[in-house]
Amino acid sequence: MRVLGIETSCDETAVAVYDEAAGLLAHALHSQVELHRDYGGVVPELASRDHVRKLLPLITAVMRQARCAPADIDGIAYTAGPGLVGALLVGASVAQSLAFAWRVPALAIHHMEGHLLAPLMEADAPAFPFLALLVSGGHTQLLRVDGIGAYRLLGESLDDAAGEAFDKTAKLLGLAYPGGPALAQLATNGVPGRFVFPKPMTHRQGLDFSFSGLKTFAANTVRQYGDDAQARADIACAFQEAVVDTLVIKCRRAIAETGLRRLVMAGGVSANTLLRERLANLAGQEDIALYYPRLEFCTDNGAMIAYAGCRRLAAGEVATTRDIVVRARWDMQQLRPPAA
Ligand code: KG4
Ligand code: ZN
Repeated sequence: MRVLGIETSCDETAVAVYDEAAGLLAHALHSQVELHRDYGGVVPELASRDHVRKLLPLITAVMRQARCAPADIDGIAYTAGPGLVGALLVGASVAQSLAFAWRVPALAIHHMEGHLLAPLMEADAPAFPFLALLVSGGHTQLLRVDGIGAYRLLGESLDDAAGEAFDKTAKLLGLAYPGGPALAQLATNGVPGRFVFPKPMTHRQGLDFSFSGLKTFAANTVRQYGDDAQARADIACAFQEAVVDTLVIKCRRAIAETGLRRLVMAGGVSANTLLRERLANLAGQEDIALYYPRLEFCTDNGAMIAYAGCRRLAAGEVATTRDIVVRARWDMQQLRPPAA
């Protein structure tokens, strides 16, 4: 079973070929960061147009790298949502067209399922069931995962996602888009404890998150102290500490409530060094196992989409439509196990 994966949900055009037996054969990515930088964020129309320009050449290159001819491909997996509709439509159109021409099924993959399953590509893959912390630019969720397509939402952000909070605060600190990694870098020069940010929702019951208040707190602090370079680093440090601490507190609570012994972290923010360190500490204290993808598969990539498609196809999933349908929003709990 060999699957071509296509990811175009936001500002990365990404393609991969995953083989059930041999693993990942090839993957490549074109980042649009430079294209959007002057605007301080992703401009949807520019994103769509760039996917149109880059997707077919990228597929050709990845197929060559994987030493694959169309006849070697058993299915095409594409991100059908959630994401920017125009951007998603590019991937969906190309995937459905190629699938029609190559006479193979085209599977619509949920972007966050791709993130969620990415750690399963590693040699030390987690077994089901596990607890998952999904932290990306658009989502912050805690899930109970009983198998592929068996996801129960335990808690999520009621407003901004963790990555979004990183990006917005980075912007306030004068850092270029995408600000998450830049803020984390700046924080390494910060003096811990000089500023203390609130840890939203941690005193309340439940597993939901809220990060928009942090951004307001950051805005006020930047207004007061932001002229000084050291203060900016100290603010970055305090902000990161508050986000990471909040995530860790909720993970600890979720472990206690579910009794699950495996914790998976995935999505762009799982690339964050402090978060990885703190969750590793938590795993040590709770005597549970922690899993995360290699760094390049934390953020958006084609491999996770090819992998999710390959697992689903191998488990008997059939493509039900040749229609080009994408979704800006899509509840993961609506997904079903492959054979269902
Ligand atoms: O998963 P992803 O690539 O795209 C979405 O599905 O949203 O996540 C991107 C998010 C951005 O908000 C980015 O700033 C954040 O992940 N991010 C980080 C780090 N690397 C990426 N945030 C904090 N620290 C990092 N090292
Ligand atoms: Zn993503």
